[in-house]
Parts: sequence; structure tokens; C-alpha cells
Amino acid sequence: MPEGKRFLNLFFSKNIFCGSFNDLSTLPDNHLPECCLIGRSNVGKSSLINAIAHSQKLAKTSKKPGRTQSINIYEFDKRLNIVDLPGYGYGKFSFNQRENLSNLLKTYLMYRNNLKMIYILIDCKVGIKNIDIDIFDLMDEINKKFKLILTKIDICSKKYVNSQIESIESFLINYPKFHNKILVSSSKNYEGIVDIQKDIYNLESSK
Ligand code: GTP
Ligand code: MG
Repeated sequence: MPEGKRFLNLFFSKNIFCGSFNDLSTLPDNHLPECCLIGRSNVGKSSLINAIAHSQKLAKTSKKPGRTQSINIYEFDKRLNIVDLPGYGYGKFSFNQRENLSNLLKTYLMYRNNLKMIYILIDCKVGIKNIDIDIFDLMDEINKKFKLILTKIDICSKKYVNSQIESIESFLINYPKFHNKILVSSSKNYEGIVDIQKDIYNLESSK
């Protein structure tokens, strides 16, 4: 069964870090299907890449927000890329730093040709903030498909996770570019990781 758990773990264990980039023009021109993870600082983007890869050290994580400040590309089995992006909404950055990161994010999302899917991460406990709504609006504006991943579900009760899914789904009904599916994840106990691996793997097979 090509999408079984063992197959997926093997696929995502064949990974390499391709590099860190601060400018769209320096990104390697790559024809592999690509997806990216975006979300507020500290939501768990880099940790999720490690969980997908079953590695502790592929992507750099931190307790402090603002860790990832460039575009980081990870290649899996020479067949697809996952991109870790700088988090948005970190209050301690200067105005210039925030502007630079926001421009980097926008140009990447708008002009990266091989970008097949955008996963927007939301901390389950925190829920949707205004700055996330700005990103949903941006998806509309630039006409890009996106899916949502609720992170850190290990620190929430099942009931709470379900109520977040319900309220976020009804909020997103007005966004035509939203793929009507909310994924969940815990990078601590691996809940939801297989479904995310499957979703990303399918980008490769549906290219
Ligand atoms: P920036 O690079 O700053 O934008 O942050 P990020 O979104 O990459 O977050 P990162 O993966 O560095 O994780 C931030 C903190 O959240 C770290 O202390 C992680 O250990 C913690 N964390 C990440 N994922 C989970 C999770 O699923 N469950 C729990 N309990 N903690 C998590
Ligand atoms: Mg990070």
C-alpha cells in the first residue's frame, strides 16, 4: 500500500536541507512540486517539518518566537519540497524587519512557480487572530489555494479541538480558495502527522 505509514515514514526520512534564502531571486529554480508552511511566530512550523521527517534536527526550532527568518527549503526523496517560512506577527521585530519579512513572504507566495499548496498553521489553543485573517485575505487577493493545520493539539482537550475546527470551518466558508479540510497536528505525540504526510505526498503524485 503506497500510502501506508511505513511507506510514508520511509519517504519522508529521505530528506536534505537545500538551503536558507533571503531573496526570491536566489531561490534554486526547482521543478519539484513544493508546498509551504506559514503561520504566526511560534505556531510550530519548524517542529512540524521535523515531525513529518521523524527527525529532531532537520529544521531549527526554538521556544522563543522569531526563530526562522528566511525561506528554508527541504527536499524529500528528490521528489518534493517542503518550505519553512518566517513566522508573522512577532511584536519584538523592528518595523523594518517586519516589512522585510512580510515582503519576502508575499513575493514567495505570489511568484514561486512550483508552489502547489499553502498550509496555514494555527495554534489550536490560541485560535485565529486578526493577523491570520490578513493572510486568508491575501490568499484571496493572490488567488492561491490553502489548507489549515491546527497545531499543538496535545495541549488541548478533544472537545476543545473539535469546537475550534467547527468555528474555524464556519469562519472560512467565505473563502473560496480554502480547501474545505482542517488538518490537526501534534509534533510532540505525532497525532495527525500521518494524515499530513499523506496530504503532502499526494501533491507529488498529482503533479
Ligand atoms: P518561528 O520560526 O519563530 O516562526 O516559530 P515556528 O512556527 O517555527 O515554531 P517552532 O517549531 O520553533 O516551535 C515553537 C515552540 O512550540 C517550541 O518550543 C516547540 O517545542 C513548541 N511546539 C511546536 N509544536 C508543538 C506541538 O505540537 N505541541 C507542543 N506542546 N509544543 C509544540
Ligand atoms: Mg521556525
